[in-house]
Amino acid sequence: MEEIIMYPGEARQDALDWKAVQGQHITAVRRNILVLGSGGREHALAWKLAQSEGAHVFIAPGNAGTAQVGVNVNIKLSDFESIKDFCLKQEINLVVVGPEQPLVDGIVDFFKAEDALKTVKIIGPDKRGALLEGSKAYAKDFMEKYGVPTAKCFKVNKDNLNEGYVFLESVKAPYVLKADGLAAGKGVLILNDLQEAKDELGKMLDGKFGAASATVVIEEFLKGIEVSVFVLTDGEHYVLLPEAKDYKRIGDGDTGLNTGGMGGVSPVPFCTPEFLNKVEERIVKPTLKGLKSEGIDYKGFIFLGLMNDGGNPYVIEYNVRMGDPETEAVMTRIEGDFADLLTACAVGRLDEVHYAKSDKTAVTVMMVSGGYPEAYEKGKVMSGLDRLNNVVAFHAGTAFNAQNEVITSGGRVIAVTALGDSIEQARTLAYREVEKIHFEGANYRHDIGIDLMHWV
Ligand code: AMP
Ligand code: GLY
Repeated sequence: MEEIIMYPGEARQDALDWKAVQGQHITAVRRNILVLGSGGREHALAWKLAQSEGAHVFIAPGNAGTAQVGVNVNIKLSDFESIKDFCLKQEINLVVVGPEQPLVDGIVDFFKAEDALKTVKIIGPDKRGALLEGSKAYAKDFMEKYGVPTAKCFKVNKDNLNEGYVFLESVKAPYVLKADGLAAGKGVLILNDLQEAKDELGKMLDGKFGAASATVVIEEFLKGIEVSVFVLTDGEHYVLLPEAKDYKRIGDGDTGLNTGGMGGVSPVPFCTPEFLNKVEERIVKPTLKGLKSEGIDYKGFIFLGLMNDGGNPYVIEYNVRMGDPETEAVMTRIEGDFADLLTACAVGRLDEVHYAKSDKTAVTVMMVSGGYPEAYEKGKVMSGLDRLNNVVAFHAGTAFNAQNEVITSGGRVIAVTALGDSIEQARTLAYREVEKIHFEGANYRHDIGIDLMHWV
């Protein structure tokens, strides 16, 4: 009997001509997808997944933007039992974990241990795999063991503090101090003065970042320009997703405080085929080999935070998730059915799916609340969102008020992404539309992509 696969979706259901297909077996493919998280990254993931055949997307907890592409579900990411109940009740096929915390907390291990969840595919590493991000000391040992190029380092705790001082004296400024554990993106200090570095090292060990800094990794400072490279792996095979450049400082010209990311550009002109080939040979392959050797079954994203020093890549850090705001640029350049790609990843068959990326350039500009990354106010009513043309506005920190208006609810508020034939074209379009969005105190960088426009 010939099989026809039918996807739900109004047009296709209407088009089903029963007489014409009599005698054939019809399988309705419906994919219920749950995206975990509530930021711009999750809106971008949900937006892309919602374009897949038969996809019904749920986002927990989501934001005002994810509500446009799926159904928000009010579940806390730490509440694995409720996530499980929801997956079973709603017959979820695929779970995509946005942020690192649930991965580090073992959500994938939880899914694997529950018989009822055996058929639910989940994208993300288990607890051991998540250590690549959850412990910088572990990640450094891993890189050393498997020959992945990275900065020289020394690990310090209260027992070997003096040796830590000696290491600091042996390297040149600037001094890089990293809390071993997750510290909400704030656990890295870069200091120019040796005495200050020693003092801060002491403070970190005394709990400056809580338990996360009970161990501190001191690193040699790497020179160069940063880029985020994203790998999707099923443990055996991998694809390189589009890379992106993140703009981390709050102010134009890379000035002021560090933020979660103020914008992004993809592709990145200095990521030439030659550079990316080095990334694959020197970093991706040894990393995957290492994971296998350690017996870690890794199915998910690996975000390589890289430094390009004179055309050679060095790992600054591993993350076990996609980047934010990089995802808001990257998702607009992935072609084809993303749910197919992730499903293939979850079942170890990434080599069997067709994957392509668009040649267009994506520029993402993040609008943030006044005062961010320090104290800022929430609850500002947003306007202009209904007047946007030819861009995608990914919501990062938004919510609805009692009148159903979209209001700000975070430091990073909305990421406007435009595609163009060049950085210049995408920039012009992105900024034209950013100017239409208003909320009290709105701030954004004006120079996203400028440094890359005439890259030689
Ligand atoms: P991380 O939280 O590990 O991403 O570090 C935050 C930022 O600090 C990175 O994005 C880099 O800009 C910078 N950084 C971290 N480690 C180094 C290093 N070894 N050399 C130079 N810059 C670094
Ligand atoms: N944009 C950097 C990060 O997601 O960690």
